[in-house]
Amino acid sequence: MLLDKPLAVQVVALTGATGFIGTTLRKRLVESGLTVRALSRREEGVHEGIEWIKGSLENAGSLERLVEEADAVIHLAGAVRGSSLDQFNRINVDGSVRLMEAVRRVGASHRFLLMSSLAARHPELSWYAASKREAEQAVQKRAGDLSVTVFRPTAVYGPGDKEMRPLFEWLLRGWLLTLGEQTARLSFIHVEDLVRAVVAWVSAPQVHSATYELCDGCPGNYDWQGIAEIAKKIRHGSVRQVTVPAALLQGIAQVNLSFSCLTRRAPMLTPAKVGELRHPNWSCSNTAVEQALGWHPNILLERALEERYF
Ligand SMILES: NC(=O)c1ccc[n+]([C@@H]2O[C@H](COP(=O)([O-])OP(=O)(O)OC[C@H]3O[C@@H](n4cnc5c(N)ncnc54)[C@H](OP(=O)(O)O)[C@@H]3O)[C@@H](O)[C@H]2O)c1
Repeated sequence: MLLDKPLAVQVVALTGATGFIGTTLRKRLVESGLTVRALSRREEGVHEGIEWIKGSLENAGSLERLVEEADAVIHLAGAVRGSSLDQFNRINVDGSVRLMEAVRRVGASHRFLLMSSLAARHPELSWYAASKREAEQAVQKRAGDLSVTVFRPTAVYGPGDKEMRPLFEWLLRGWLLTLGEQTARLSFIHVEDLVRAVVAWVSAPQVHSATYELCDGCPGNYDWQGIAEIAKKIRHGSVRQVTVPAALLQGIAQVNLSFSCLTRRAPMLTPAKVGELRHPNWSCSNTAVEQALGWHPNILLERALEERYF
């Protein structure tokens, strides 16, 4: 369904601009000639082309200031770690609803991009996945005649990422840590490719209310053996697979969760996350997003590993 008229975007409101993906995205949006109004919970210094709006997803007033005069809204902010479903929902669901309500009250924007996750395909797998799926539904339900595009990227890596970087470093030293079945299908996307897809969405004269998966486009995606082969080629040497048994992963996740309660730090690995990590099918297809936006990814995992571009 084509919802919005062909309107040029000049001013973009961005949440999550201080995070891993947002740091790259805000730079590329400015380079594309857009005026960026970006939400931050901290006092920010001067960044050319960015107007920082101090506030958070919990504060409706700051969200209204953020979206004033913005033709398009890109909602990246979210919790990727947490120790309960409630913690994830408060940020990912309630925060998204508050932002959409602010957008509707102010009425300046004609398109809204929600950065969801491929995990939302399987809300039963983890607290994170459930909260991302619920956020999608909550935002779509409240959109009225506003065009809402949902991006569901697979695992994102690249400069600034702290989660996958250590695993890639170990891989290039000859150690591949594997989780789940040997036959599991996996997919990845480089942050620069994801960000180019967002810029393509902003630049498109018309956008659809639709949900798109995004990955690096490797034919057939990846499996553990294929990743080991890539690393062997780059290293000109052997790669040892170390399989973490499910029970051990659960045990580590449980300890991690208990420890995080003591330290009050939001954990990434929790028992609820294990199902997501061990899921047998994270294959992903770009067909729909390529047709809609004319975007194509440039960076396969092999190239990124070879050039140490992560
Ligand atoms: N990384 C991945 O592999 C991946 C894959 C698929 C989808 N995604 C999605 O992409 C988005 C960005 O992920 P990321 O990896 O860049 O995460 P990140 O590095 O943890 O960044 C999260 C961003 O959200 C902001 N934020 C969190 N809670 C907030 C709140 N209550 N109010 C205002 N801002 C808040 C953070 O601000 P502070 O700097 O103040 O903490 C930060 O800017 C998320 O929605 C995530 O679900 C990520």
